[in-house]
Amino acid sequence: TLPPAVEALIGRMTLEEKAGQLTLLAAAWAGGAANKLNPIAPSGGYEVQLADAKAGRLTGVFNGNGAKMAREMQQAAMASRLKIPLIFAADVIHGFRTVFPVPLGEASSFDPALVERSARVAATEAAAAGIDWTFAPMVDIARDARWGRGVEGAGEDVLLGCDMARARVRGFQGSALTANDAVMACAKHFAAYGAGEGGLDYNSVDVSERTLRDVYFPPFQAALDAGSLSVMAAFNEISGVPATANHWLMTYVLRDQWGFGGLTVSDYTGDEELIAHGLAADERDAARLAFMAGVDMSMQSALYIKYLPDLVASGTVPVARLDQAVRRVLRVKAALGLFDDPFRRIDPKREAARVGTAANRAVAREAARRSIVMLKNEGGVLPLPQDRKIALIGPFAEGQHDLIGPWNVYGSDGEAVDLATGVRAVAGARAQITVTAGSGVEEALAGGIEAAVAAARAADIVVLAIGEGQDMSGEAQARTEVVVPAPQRALVEAVAATGKPIVVLLKNGRALALDGAVLAAPAILVTWFLGSEGGPAIADILFGRASPSGRLPVSFPRAAGQEPYYYAHKSTGRPNPQGPLKPFKAHYRGIPNSALFPFGHGLTYGRVDYAGLEVSNSGKLAPDGALTVSATITNTGTVAADEVVQLYVHDVAASITRPVRQLKSYRRVSLAPGKSEKVSFTLRRSDLTFIGEGMKPVVEPGDFLVWVAPSAEAEGVSGRFTLTA
Ligand code: IFM
Repeated sequence: TLPPAVEALIGRMTLEEKAGQLTLLAAAWAGGAANKLNPIAPSGGYEVQLADAKAGRLTGVFNGNGAKMAREMQQAAMASRLKIPLIFAADVIHGFRTVFPVPLGEASSFDPALVERSARVAATEAAAAGIDWTFAPMVDIARDARWGRGVEGAGEDVLLGCDMARARVRGFQGSALTANDAVMACAKHFAAYGAGEGGLDYNSVDVSERTLRDVYFPPFQAALDAGSLSVMAAFNEISGVPATANHWLMTYVLRDQWGFGGLTVSDYTGDEELIAHGLAADERDAARLAFMAGVDMSMQSALYIKYLPDLVASGTVPVARLDQAVRRVLRVKAALGLFDDPFRRIDPKREAARVGTAANRAVAREAARRSIVMLKNEGGVLPLPQDRKIALIGPFAEGQHDLIGPWNVYGSDGEAVDLATGVRAVAGARAQITVTAGSGVEEALAGGIEAAVAAARAADIVVLAIGEGQDMSGEAQARTEVVVPAPQRALVEAVAATGKPIVVLLKNGRALALDGAVLAAPAILVTWFLGSEGGPAIADILFGRASPSGRLPVSFPRAAGQEPYYYAHKSTGRPNPQGPLKPFKAHYRGIPNSALFPFGHGLTYGRVDYAGLEVSNSGKLAPDGALTVSATITNTGTVAADEVVQLYVHDVAASITRPVRQLKSYRRVSLAPGKSEKVSFTLRRSDLTFIGEGMKPVVEPGDFLVWVAPSAEAEGVSGRFTLTA
């Protein structure tokens, strides 16, 4: 419900003022030095936006920046007839000025509490700079590494995706949305944006309703359960109906079935794109279709302000629908405390004090450390001794580029610490560090390989910083081959031929298929894009100040052509999961259909053994009961380690085929060298739900396999249990 004074506004608004409340535009200024965007406002510039705010034709703006400009805009809105405050939105995806690892990287921490803390810091900074609303979290499940936007999400798994969705919403929204350090979350992109055919961004999606409900919807439900007050419609169509015009999705599922009472917004010109989709005949039709499907607010196209007043006046769109959408907008503005104090998040002094602080950067360094995943460490190459000659080689060895990662509007590479600087600071005076690029990101460098080989020969150890540039993932950055670019592979081959021990530091915004000398390197760390403190965080791990503890949130395939590859696939009638390839079984020519490095994989500097699986109650789970599954985890190594222990199940026979394994729980345990811990998980009937016939959640009695394991494809320790009727 709305405060009575706010509700009363609806009765006083003209049709144009109502449509204005549903119209969001990119800010027509890029006032702050750090804002890399240069938005082109369709309304013609800053002065026009100020006039629109004063005329009540605008609900708010997005991706502008700086409290000073926001104050000016808000003052214009306060001079309007009804004094309805503007809402300031922004893409705060992985930090604001202090940049955190890309969300896919942070998901590798398997640590929702850490992710909540990083979102809290981002919210504190953004809110201090005048922002009320972030277009995050992106909760799209991404199972095809070709898709570039997987980098903005939590990867391929439903449970991890739900946990990360909840954590981010809690972090953004804090304990009270009215607080001046809280920003409203927006779960996006509803729905199945990650399921575009061939991994191509914006491409058509044709998935079953069951898969939508089983796989793609749950992270949205989790975000809404955690209190996200807004949802953004996806660009893609689903089985012939674009999400932006999809009444079943935006109204039946979201409102009628889930009871969502918040605000829905289109993606950037998503309503106008209904014409290109071939659904709407013209702009007016596009506005009508999106609005009647349930999209309350239009982003950037300005179609609602252009057409809704007449669509309502002519009786094509019911006034009740218009009032409903306006009420939702006013409700979120009220929830954010904007009617009480429209300037509550707009305070240049607070902005100066809270943004980019040392304390925030310390959280970013911790998040970065815990996002790093160690894929290999043969012969204990890592951690590196500090008294050696180290050759840092590769396009990402040094320099203020490709540090913060894609889709960060307010941070800058210039304020981030690069690898060479981090390594020099952490390695100390006894290390001798040389730095050589060796190659460009996607082009060879004249004389680069020769210089790199000479540097490698002169060193004891080579650290190769290779992978993807930050413009190779993110929106519209689908790749046909998910590999390290060819010139860099040539560099690694040449350096490997020197015979020097190699540590590969992969920079990547997606799962990659690794081969050749890259894969053969004794040590490989996945370092994603780690943000402001990436260089020091990598150095912390390289020199053993911290043990790696991240786990892959996406499966690394053996070959790019396996995509989409994800661990929770179905068995098929002809599985060939392990061992030699068999004819007429499900695998590609020459390679097993399993991951190169599976979901959940990640090594530590400890050596961790799994033993002694126990299932309580003689393996019988009663309908209203609980079962304890436990295993003993031992660190047989000489270094303390954080192990992420994972619980997977498989439903042996069900009315609908079930994935070969599904993650049901995980726990991070800290183990001193030589120490053991019995790690226990509780399983309940509700953990075994799936979407049955009739598209309703069901649980079926029967037998289940269970694993406690270090990854989705590792054996770990396994057993069985039975869900009784
Ligand atoms: O929030 C984004 C969305 O994820 C992609 N299109 C643009 C929006 C606003 O910047």
